[in-house]
Amino acid sequence: MSRTKPYQPSLLRFLHGVNALLVIAALISGYWVYDTFDGRFGKVPLPRINPIIDYHGTIGLTFFLFAPLFVIYSLWCGRKKLVQKDSIAQLSNIGKPISWISLQRLTNTVMLLAIVFAAISGKLMDETWLPTGELHHLAYSLHLTAWATMLVCLALHLLMSAKVGGVPLLLSMSSFKVRSDDHPKLWIQQLRNRV
Ligand code: HEM
Ligand code: HEM
Repeated sequence: MSRTKPYQPSLLRFLHGVNALLVIAALISGYWVYDTFDGRFGKVPLPRINPIIDYHGTIGLTFFLFAPLFVIYSLWCGRKKLVQKDSIAQLSNIGKPISWISLQRLTNTVMLLAIVFAAISGKLMDETWLPTGELHHLAYSLHLTAWATMLVCLALHLLMSAKVGGVPLLLSMSSFKVRSDDHPKLWIQQLRNRV
């Protein structure tokens, strides 16, 4: 039996792809900042990069400005892939495909919350705290928690997407192929029609 290949709208792939790259860059550079100036929960011997906070700040700011576009798109056009009214009830059908789909939609939704948490706690950070050993600020504890939340959620998001659609679904998100009826010229129209 031949299964139809999953296809993701080009606007979703663009926004999701840029957002994912920024999140991964923030996770790595954020860890590097922690490893350089903190290390209370363990550390690995990473080479010292003196302007690492500046680099992370630039990635963080780009993420802060870009992520709202992806969040708005997901709430506007991608709402069917987020948690639904009956999702929680369907979770109880343990082991059935519908329960995995509901769990996947739930993790997609949690990803949006993780974005908001990381972006807001990052905005509350001050670049001078860590170099002067000020590790006690609440905003820093929140921002570290946001890092761990994002990492765990990303792992769950990938696991759930793989469980629901396997490798073809994961590949459909990173493919560069664009159908003629999904050309970037049509993005505005797609947003208007909410498709
Ligand atoms: C161990 C993990 C992390 C540490 C130690 C850390 C540390 C910092 C520091 C010191 C700043 C202040 C930089 C500045 O003002 O120039 C900052 C800002 C920021 N970080 Fe993180 N971060 C971490 C993880 C993350 C993650 C995972 C994200 C997003 C996915 C993120 C997003 C941001 C944002 C949005 C800003 C604000 C940038 C700005 O407005 O200038 N951070 N972070
Ligand atoms: C890094 C590799 C990533 C891969 C391979 C990946 C994969 C996927 C796939 C395959 C889907 C489509 C699910 C479907 O059609 O049922 C999806 C949707 C989604 N992903 Fe990711 N993802 C990644 C990173 C991220 C990150 C970092 C975030 C946010 C922080 C994120 C948030 C979302 C959201 C919110 C949706 C639902 C989009 C919509 O509403 O249409 N993903 N992802």
